[in-house]
Order: sequence, then structure tokens, then C-alpha cells
Amino acid sequence: MIHLSTRSRNTPPSPIRRLAHLARSASEKGVEPYYLNIGQPDIHCPRLFSEGVAQHADIHVSYAPSEGIQVFREAWASWMNREHGIDTSPERYMVTMGASEGLVFLFTTCCDPSDEIIIFDPTYANYMGFAEQTGVRLVSLASAFEEGFQLPDTSVIRKHITSRTRAILLCNPNNPTGVLYGEEEVERLLDICHRYGLYLLLDETYREIVFDNKPVTSAMKIAPDDEHVIVIDSLSKRFSLCGARIGSLYVPSNGLREKILHLAQARLSAPTIEQLAATHMLKQIEDGYTAEVCATYQGRRDCLIRCLQKIPGVTCCEPSGAFYLLAKLPIEDAEHFASWMLSEYSQDGRTLFLSPARGFYSIPGMGEDEIRLAFVLEEKSLEHAMKVLEGGLEAYKSVTK
Ligand SMILES: Cc1ncc(COP(=O)(O)O)c(C=O)c1O
Repeated sequence: MIHLSTRSRNTPPSPIRRLAHLARSASEKGVEPYYLNIGQPDIHCPRLFSEGVAQHADIHVSYAPSEGIQVFREAWASWMNREHGIDTSPERYMVTMGASEGLVFLFTTCCDPSDEIIIFDPTYANYMGFAEQTGVRLVSLASAFEEGFQLPDTSVIRKHITSRTRAILLCNPNNPTGVLYGEEEVERLLDICHRYGLYLLLDETYREIVFDNKPVTSAMKIAPDDEHVIVIDSLSKRFSLCGARIGSLYVPSNGLREKILHLAQARLSAPTIEQLAATHMLKQIEDGYTAEVCATYQGRRDCLIRCLQKIPGVTCCEPSGAFYLLAKLPIEDAEHFASWMLSEYSQDGRTLFLSPARGFYSIPGMGEDEIRLAFVLEEKSLEHAMKVLEGGLEAYKSVTK
């Protein structure tokens, strides 16, 4: 047997994609799944982006500068400043291949192997994969479904800081819970980071997707010059540009930015045409674009919650942002249920592709009866999908009897 590294063996499969082969088989049998498993917006990207791609169709596709194309960094900083009433400079942004690459860069620059980052369970599942790749140990602190996933007390967080702790990582608004953490919470974590000399890594991939007119929180507003702060960002969600693979890191510390640049140089560059097309988009996109996107997702959230409330035994936490929610089902093993739905159950030729929530928890035994639902389908489809869920839960009773 040829050797496989421990790191690769320990990298977990994505809970979002693990059942994809079952979804493919269902499709081949003529049963079309509703894809509630993945945060892939069905909203079309802004027309300005496609226009930008067309404008650059004939260019010589060269490598871009490793830190990102300057006109893109300027357009990105300028959009961010307009959108949030802040004053950030393009030089502080490093362009990455999505938030994903930015996270790997940060785990690599902020930590040595076996160093620790504090996270809050449940959390974005791929953080675990990034940690395995980079040898970082994630120290997970629980936040409870029953308490609306609020962050633990300061004393609990402090108790888990060791000589190997390098950072606290918060996703805000959070995937998979949809919880929005306010300014006081970010300031509280920042105080802890100051006291212990840690970085505060804020994954703001869903920053503008916030419901009920709640204020958008950003560390770039709260402490834009603080060298402990790093903001991870992406065009994937708010602009429905998942496949463009463009993200950014906002890094106030010159020293850290220089080290990230060295990693960026080793991978040469982020996509060129996509940066140019996004520049075209950002320069002309109308104010209020993200408000429209929010209104669409808020309508879907309300629709999904209304439907879930009608299903006996199902409970959920109402999200304030992003486009996910966690639901508790009247079953014992959501992993088994999700597989069974794809391989055994259909209603009107449809089934569901669900994400079992267990993969979003790093504390063993958590989330066994929970699923994560992404509300990235139109309301009519969500309504039908929830009928399929209700029928599936009823039929599943006889399987587990
Ligand atoms: C919280 C969070 N961070 C990062 C990412 C990765 O995004 P990107 O497509 O920019 O790599 C995702 C994608 O779903 C996410 O939910």
C-alpha cells in the first residue's frame, strides 16, 4: 500500500458534498433532489459581471499580481467604503481564491503545526479540513441550540486559552446557524485577543445578508486599524459568484500582510478575468443591490420557517443572517435519514438533498438529530420541498420502528 499522509487521512469529507453520489443516482433514476445541502445561491449574478467577462474575452490571459490586480483592489475597497461608510485603503486587501484560500493562508501564517485556534461549535465545516491541512488544532467551544447559539462567557473562553493559542475565529453572520453577532460581541472577543496577544479572524463572507433591518456588523467598522483584526471575505455569496473564486483578506498589520503575500506568490495568482470582470461590476453596481438580495433571502427564510413549524416534531432556530438554518428533526440519526431520503424516498418525482448537521460540530455526539437547510431556492420550491420533508419523516417512522 503506497503511503498516504496522516493529514490527508484525517481531513474529513465535506458534510455538504458527502452524499453527492446518492443525489446523482436519484437523478439517474428520474427522482430530482431539491438541493438544500449547499450554499449555492440560485440568484443570477449581476449582469455587470457577465458584461465584464465578455469585455475581457479576447485578452491575453496572463497571471495577475499575487496580491491581486490593483484596479480590482481599488474597486473592492471603494465598494466596501461606500456600502459600509468606512475608509479602508486598497493596499490592505489581499485578493485570494475565495474565502477558502484566505483561511488556509491565515491558518498557515498565524499558526505553526499544533498551535490552536478557538472556534465556536457548530461552525463552518470546512474549517476542520483547513485545520487538518495546516496542522492547526481547533479548540471548539459549544454554543447551544436551545440558547440560540449564543457565544460562551468570557470566563469560559479564557479558560481554553493556552500557550499555543494563536487566534479566535468567528463567522459572522454564522454558517450554519444564521446567528448574527453584534458589535458588543465582536468587541468582547477583541478585548480577549488584546489581553492574550491573539488574532481575531472574522469570517464575514455573509456580512451584508442580514434580516429584519438589523445592523450589519463588521470588524472593519469597529477597529479598522487594529493589528489583531483580520477580515475574511468573498464575492461568492452576496454577488452569487461562487464559481468566480474571488475572495479577500483585510489585513491591517503590514508584517502579517507581507507574510501572506509570500504564500500568495507561491501560488502565483488568483483568477485574472474574474478580477477584471468583478472590477467592471463593482464600479457600476447600484447602491441597494445587497438590500435587494437580503429581501429575497428574508422572504425565503420566513417561508421556510412557516413550513417547518407545520411539521410535527420539527424545531428550528430563526436565523438573523446568511442563508442557512439548523433544524432538529424527530429522528435519531440525521445522517441515516439524509441517505435514506436520497436513496429510498420520493414524492411527486422529487426528493431532498440535506446536510446532516453532525459535520458542522467538532464536539463528538452533537447535532445527531439536526440538519442544515440552505434557503437558496425560490419560495414555491421551498414549500414543495418541505412537503417532501414532511412525507419523508412520516414514511421514515416505519423504517426505524
Ligand atoms: C462561512 C464560510 N466561509 C468561507 C466559505 C468559502 O467561500 P468561498 O467560496 O469564498 O471560498 C464559505 C462557503 O460556503 C462559508 O460558508
